[in-house]
Amino acid sequence: MIKRILGKTGMEVSLLSLGTGGARQLGQSIGYSMYDQKRLVKAALDIGINIFDTATHYGDSESILGECLSGIPRDSFLLCTKWPARDEMNNTVDDPTKLIKSIEKSLKRLQTDYIDIMLFHGIMPHEYDLIVESLYPTMARLKSEGKIRSIGFSSRFSEDPAQKGIELGLSKHPDLWDVVMLKYGILNQSAAAKILPLARNHNIGVINMAAVRVKLPDPTLLEQLIAKWKSSGLIDTDSLPTNDPLGWLVEGNVKSVIEAGYKFAAEPTTVSTVLTGTASIEHLMANVECLEEPYLPQHHTDRLKTTLSQIIQYA
Ligand SMILES: NC(=O)c1ccc[n+]([C@@H]2O[C@H](COP(=O)([O-])OP(=O)(O)OC[C@H]3O[C@@H](n4cnc5c(N)ncnc54)[C@H](OP(=O)(O)O)[C@@H]3O)[C@@H](O)[C@H]2O)c1
Repeated sequence: MIKRILGKTGMEVSLLSLGTGGARQLGQSIGYSMYDQKRLVKAALDIGINIFDTATHYGDSESILGECLSGIPRDSFLLCTKWPARDEMNNTVDDPTKLIKSIEKSLKRLQTDYIDIMLFHGIMPHEYDLIVESLYPTMARLKSEGKIRSIGFSSRFSEDPAQKGIELGLSKHPDLWDVVMLKYGILNQSAAAKILPLARNHNIGVINMAAVRVKLPDPTLLEQLIAKWKSSGLIDTDSLPTNDPLGWLVEGNVKSVIEAGYKFAAEPTTVSTVLTGTASIEHLMANVECLEEPYLPQHHTDRLKTTLSQIIQYA
């Protein structure tokens, strides 16, 4: 397993990491038992994955992950979790006691004394200043007390596809942030223009999330999406085939469009680790194997960038 450094945290992370949100939520959405979940997490550890992502709002993922990792030496893996600074009415929360209580609960559920990477879950540009002013000082205190080891935030890419929240944070306060979690993939390349260079220049660790998600694994959805982008003039009609529009990526050691998706996501060296949200051990092994060589042929990377890099849409 290739390892990269998570920016200024200095943490060595496996290039593929396991996410416990998304469609699968560590198998919660497809009826996995604790036995199945333990097998998945053990398979990930055995193959060299050393970083696991969770969040307070991924069903019971934090507790399940805590159970799956109990008994494993704590210094052999890294935990990332997140807290949304939002209340039930979707209003931004500015009360630091809520953050403290939530982190205490996360520590219990994860069966640990510290969280390696603690993120604000999905910051929108309009709430960024409030969160920094009202909540960041508490995060910083918890870091100085050793309850968390690094601080960051993720984007809310479904509502903010250009990830302007991340761009704002990295432009305005690069010294505050150790890590960001963003989405960069074949169908979502906008982070390449400003965000990845900002992260690189300020040595901020980048965790790449949801790089494959829903449309890359589903040929019908992918065809529909590309057709929509063509008909709305976002891409040239002859730039990609109508049927199986990304099938040309499957060549040589690239066995599927999904593998191409993970490789593309791992290609910028500013990306420290790429999350996979699979719940299948077979798929996990395939994804690890494909990142042993995390590069598509250069002409394929170039074609993807030329064709799709200007699109800023949730996909
Ligand atoms: N704002 C945020 O902070 C935020 C937002 C979104 C996600 N995240 C994090 O990012 C993680 C990754 O995102 P994601 O869960 O959407 O994962 P993803 O890795 O982008 O996509 C997972 C989907 O792809 C399928 N898949 C993966 N590998 C495959 C393979 N080799 N062959 C066939 N199908 C494959 C999975 O199905 P199978 O289970 O069948 O393999 C699953 O449906 C999340 O789990 C979460 O931890 C964070």
